[in-house]
Amino acid sequence: MTKRDFLAMEDWSSDEIDALLALAVRCKRGEVAGGMARRVLAMVFMDPSLRTRASMETAMFLHGGHALTLEPGKGSWTMETDVDAVMDGSTVEHIIEAARVLGRYADALAVRTFPKGSDWAVERQDLTIRNFARYCDKPVINLESSRRHPCQGLADALTMREHLGETAAKRFVLMWAWHPKALPTAVPASAAIAAAHLGMDVTIARPPHYDLDPDDYAVIRGLARRRGGNLAVTDDLDGALDGAHAVYAKAWGSLERFGDPDAERALRDGKRDWRLTEERIRRTAGGAGIALHCLPVRRNVEIDGAVLDGPQSVVVDEAENRLHVQRALLLELIGSREP
Ligand code: CP
Repeated sequence: MTKRDFLAMEDWSSDEIDALLALAVRCKRGEVAGGMARRVLAMVFMDPSLRTRASMETAMFLHGGHALTLEPGKGSWTMETDVDAVMDGSTVEHIIEAARVLGRYADALAVRTFPKGSDWAVERQDLTIRNFARYCDKPVINLESSRRHPCQGLADALTMREHLGETAAKRFVLMWAWHPKALPTAVPASAAIAAAHLGMDVTIARPPHYDLDPDDYAVIRGLARRRGGNLAVTDDLDGALDGAHAVYAKAWGSLERFGDPDAERALRDGKRDWRLTEERIRRTAGGAGIALHCLPVRRNVEIDGAVLDGPQSVVVDEAENRLHVQRALLLELIGSREP
């Protein structure tokens, strides 16, 4: 039997994503119990997490299964992710054996692996998550890789459906936000893909030099058009926010300066006013657009505390929905298909 991975939302058909979201709604309403007795999820966290780890472990527990969590270099062996490496350095465990072995213990393997290199041409291939999927014979779930955070995208989609009702033709703005560090593009790309899946008109507001990868734009634009929406890219943040129904504030680093922190910081300098403020959220549709963020968020840097604490913030709902969409995903991938 061919196994099914979940590495990116766009790898699954729109019908399959809609079915997952529908199952997540049923999970959230308490209509789905059990389904994962004696099922095991192995998780490898190469990078830190609060929501992803807690929600995946909780999802397995709620449905009668078990999750085991490994942190390479912190209680499990340091891991070599270069498949061709000559391992005469500090790494002990190779990704190929790790993936194969964990596949013998578990029904699915979930992995978090942020970009670590200095060359976007390499990082954009998303090799680590793809190699886990290649060498593990059980379904592999992406818990945020160099390019995608699809579980977050599912939660973003569910949250927007809950708060906006019909999403078709509504306006979604992904706004770049300043941050003291150059963060990866996996979350903003996945959020825009989620909005495109919902048939929204997607606007990405970012300063010059902060475009997402061209392939991301192609995926977002193609999906949006298939679903009745569109994609626009602008550096006019306030103009983009006028009449928006949903605003996703998120920091990311310039791919043009990927791997060159000093040059990237020089580009970012002077852009601290790219921040979601109360004044900006009032520009949204009826002054009532919702504010989204994947969390963790830098308060008063990416989004003002008054917005995060105000009635338009749905960031905690998004975090809760991580649990429900992942329950649905796990049931779909490894559930026993009980009624
Ligand atoms: N949003 C998200 O993935 O949160 P964590 O990094 O805490 O897992």
